[in-house]
Amino acid sequence: MSKSLFQAPRGTRDILPEEAGKWRSVLDAFADLAEGYGYGQVISPIFEDVGVFQRLGENTEIVSKEMFIFHDKDLKSPQELALRPELTASICRAYAQHRPVTPWKVWYSGPQFRYEKPQAGRFRQFVQVGAEVIGEEDPATDVEVISLAWRFYESIGLKDVALLLNTLGDPATRTAFNHELKSYLSSRINELSPQSQITMEKNPLRVLDSKRENDLEVLGDAPTIEEFLNQADKEHFDSVRDGLNSLNIPFEITPRLVRGLDYYTRTTFEFISTGLQTAQNAIGGGGRYDGLIEEMGGPPTQGIGFALGVDRILLACEAEKLEIEGTKPLEVFVVDMTGGSHATQIADELRKSGFGVDRSFGGRSMKAQMKVADRSGALYAIIVGDDELEKNEVTLRDLRGDGSQVRVSRSSIEKALNETIEGRNPQ
Ligand code: HAM
Repeated sequence: MSKSLFQAPRGTRDILPEEAGKWRSVLDAFADLAEGYGYGQVISPIFEDVGVFQRLGENTEIVSKEMFIFHDKDLKSPQELALRPELTASICRAYAQHRPVTPWKVWYSGPQFRYEKPQAGRFRQFVQVGAEVIGEEDPATDVEVISLAWRFYESIGLKDVALLLNTLGDPATRTAFNHELKSYLSSRINELSPQSQITMEKNPLRVLDSKRENDLEVLGDAPTIEEFLNQADKEHFDSVRDGLNSLNIPFEITPRLVRGLDYYTRTTFEFISTGLQTAQNAIGGGGRYDGLIEEMGGPPTQGIGFALGVDRILLACEAEKLEIEGTKPLEVFVVDMTGGSHATQIADELRKSGFGVDRSFGGRSMKAQMKVADRSGALYAIIVGDDELEKNEVTLRDLRGDGSQVRVSRSSIEKALNETIEGRNPQ
């Protein structure tokens, strides 16, 4: 096959029909679960004023390197816009704009865009589902949010998932820790990897994330966040742990867990797929961001939430050999040997009654039409030939079972189908 003129842009891909059904069932499962926890959907724009995302922190890579930025066409007051790299900022912007009653419990799903170096499980366009609770300080909220994500993984059958949990303390705690960490790392700067020497200047916390060998040695003696937590931070974290324990949700306390976004305060968490043998094994993450809404021009308001990467969740399902139910098979394929107008009518009648129906086009031979019928995955073929037409009947052939066939009158197709389908799936 010769190469086509255009390919999907680097870091993006087409999800074709065979795969798309699985995507939809994962997205639907999340929507159903989140609604059942009392979260309502927010559908926000795919692009925002670039300032919305700059509030995520100038020193985060998402903001400094990875945004797709463009200008709108208003020559008088050109606005700088960016494709959203994540949705928490948009939700906070929406909250500050609409000021809904709190706690505002919302969920979302959709594509995000980050100009990253593509690799296994890392794309430039990827899909997240997520949930946020705005305006609630109670640690029971943290427990609910984490349990929603955990129960979601469970509901789709994922087993090899680990929950990593940490606290970064309140903004004052975080700032004090950051300061201390920076001065410690500065004192051993020559032992750090060149990359971490640069990161340390801008964002010392991110150095904690490093897996490089020489960094690990330095990090072994680094100050830890625990030493900096105040009484309220500790009590909050204790309650979150107690809550998760009471729900039998296992977690690992990971003091060096630093997330890639600057807005986090107190509880932070990440879900790792232990079944994925790639570097990109984080299938979700989140935490509290008690200062972000103020940054968006809203009143001081707490927030907590998570986002889960659907691309990686499906890779994790594949790694665990999980069968995710895809598209529902068609019930009927209409084969018309008399020109095609009967296929048009029968397909329309059955579709109106709720059956999944396909048909072939172009007046092909019986053999060719039966081949397409077979490939369609339909359970039954309805065949209209000259003889059937003369007697005002059709032939109903079982395509998935024993291949048996019966003649039924044109007016009782629906009844016959219902009976055979019922016979196939007895209640
Ligand atoms: P994040 O950790 O940047 O957090 O992304 C969450 C999840 O999105 C990741 O764990 C991963 O599964 C997926 N993901 C991220 N980048 C990519 C990529 N390039 N390709 C494929 N999947 C990716 C956030 O986005 C925060 N907004 C989460 C949050 C919500 N925090 C509080 N509320």
